[in-house]
Amino acid sequence: MITKEQIASKHLPGHIAIIMDGNGRWARQKGNPRVFGHKNGVAAVRDTVEASAELGVKYLTLYAFSTENWNRPRTEVDALMSLLVTTINKETKTLMDNNVRLLAIGDLESLPANVAKNLKAAIEKTSTNTGLNLVLALSYSARWEIVNAVKKIAADVAAKKFVVNDIDNEIFSNALTTCNIPDPELLIRTSGENRISNFLLWQIAYAELYFTPTLWPDFRREHLYAAIADYQGRERRFGKTSEQISENVNAKG
Ligand code: IPE
Ligand code: IPE
Ligand code: MG
Repeated sequence: MITKEQIASKHLPGHIAIIMDGNGRWARQKGNPRVFGHKNGVAAVRDTVEASAELGVKYLTLYAFSTENWNRPRTEVDALMSLLVTTINKETKTLMDNNVRLLAIGDLESLPANVAKNLKAAIEKTSTNTGLNLVLALSYSARWEIVNAVKKIAADVAAKKFVVNDIDNEIFSNALTTCNIPDPELLIRTSGENRISNFLLWQIAYAELYFTPTLWPDFRREHLYAAIADYQGRERRFGKTSEQISENVNAKG
């Protein structure tokens, strides 16, 4: 069993992103409707947020609803939206108690008015908190985000803010909804699916990927610790050789 102290004393990922998957299967396994799984996923969110805040992780991004999830049965989408409102309202206190600042990425204009309103209120209320930044990805998909960035950059070129040749990684990153948010070092997906499902495609270029069979409603801080410990045991080479990396580590002493 990995303890909090063991991982906190090593290099922590500054940004952890999680694809919270498996709610529906968790509920079905218990003979319940899928929505029961979503409701029970809230406890996993709470524990993960608290544990991340305690550890000193700076950014935690949670994939809560994808652009493609709008294509689910209407009753499930409605249930998810109303759960979102209840959860945001109920959990704002937990966020305040843990000094967590709430942010959101995605096509927020496509959210129902009451969701947008409550989300905005929670974002404002927590805006001066200085601990963990909790980023909710809502009505989010990476291709939507990338296409939007291209439109924005094209408009800036048309407005002569810069020329085509100026476009570089930095300009592109700044046109994404994640501008000002560092790229995730660690991406976790629960439920045993080994795919990205249109999440942060640009930002995870060099993220370490961690897949666990645990279904999201069962995910707790010990699962998070296990993922971080796994990350801490990896060598991130960024295209260099292993020798170059260890030379650097030795030079830093
Ligand atoms: C993740 O769980 C929650 C959302 C995508 C909103 P799922 O609802 O995808 O659960 P499974 O994958 O069907 O088990
Ligand atoms: C990804 O899960 C989206 C979220 C967790 C919000 P899905 O369950 O929608 O992904 P697929 O359909 O299995 O790829
Ligand atoms: Mg799923």
